[in-house]
Amino acid sequence: MALSWNPQEIQWYEEALRWSNYPQSVLGSILDREIKESDTVLDLGSGIGAIALYVAPFCQLVKAVDSQAKALEILQEKAQNLGLQNVETYLGSWPDVNVERADVTICSYSPPISRSKQGLDKIINVTGRTGIILTPYRNMSENKVLREFASLLGIQSKQSSCDNGCWEKGFLESKNLELQCQLIKHDFSQPVRDYEEAWEFLRNQLDAPAHLKEQALHRIPDYLEEKNGRLLIPIIRESCLIVFKKMSPRGQGDGDFGSP
Ligand SMILES: C[S@@+](CC[C@H](N)C(=O)[O-])C[C@H]1O[C@@H](n2cnc3c(N)ncnc32)[C@H](O)[C@@H]1O
Repeated sequence: MALSWNPQEIQWYEEALRWSNYPQSVLGSILDREIKESDTVLDLGSGIGAIALYVAPFCQLVKAVDSQAKALEILQEKAQNLGLQNVETYLGSWPDVNVERADVTICSYSPPISRSKQGLDKIINVTGRTGIILTPYRNMSENKVLREFASLLGIQSKQSSCDNGCWEKGFLESKNLELQCQLIKHDFSQPVRDYEEAWEFLRNQLDAPAHLKEQALHRIPDYLEEKNGRLLIPIIRESCLIVFKKMSPRGQGDGDFGSP
């Protein structure tokens, strides 16, 4: 389900980010290792800025690209509230966006950007040194709880094909880029106040028709978990994390991927 960044979706997303400590929990060590203070970082499909706002304090400039004006407005507002003055936003649909080459390019959870020949070709072109791609191994709607719940309500699962990062990996390898790839699983459970809110979230994720509400509310308690005093829709994200390196002018990649 593509996010439209309406106020409710923003609230859900921010709660899930806080719960899972994303992006630090997933990308923290890689971003610390790959980004230098003097770097310009390009955040492709930035949304409301989970990555851009995380890296801004330790790099020179962040350029956040997204096709949704609302997301970029919120990102700017957040940057201002945090006193960050090194975040620029670019509105447009990748690859039709005019941005200069950056030292580090990050594309996280935005397969419409990384999963096409033109999109990934342009990512490679605008990457000066390191590219970081985090891409769903299984789509959110393939998540166990969402899938089981959809099937319980008789809703057709939207995603049936393989949705892994191998396409990006294969494409990057065909360009003779040095890369490292790993499968990672992380908790991206959705905190909710009550069963009613859980239904609203699942309805939004699954495009479930409103008339299924009573049936859904009856079964929702079977799926929710309570942890640290929070009511959660348990969601585990399975993703491919790809880090690729551009060749240095001497024709050598720096080859140092460090430990994951
Ligand atoms: C799931 S959000 C990911 C947000 C953020 N990168 C993160 O990791 O939390 C995907 C974002 O990609 C944006 N997007 C999707 N296709 C795009 C395209 N072709 N060009 C620019 N942005 C795009 C969407 O508007 C959305 O904000």
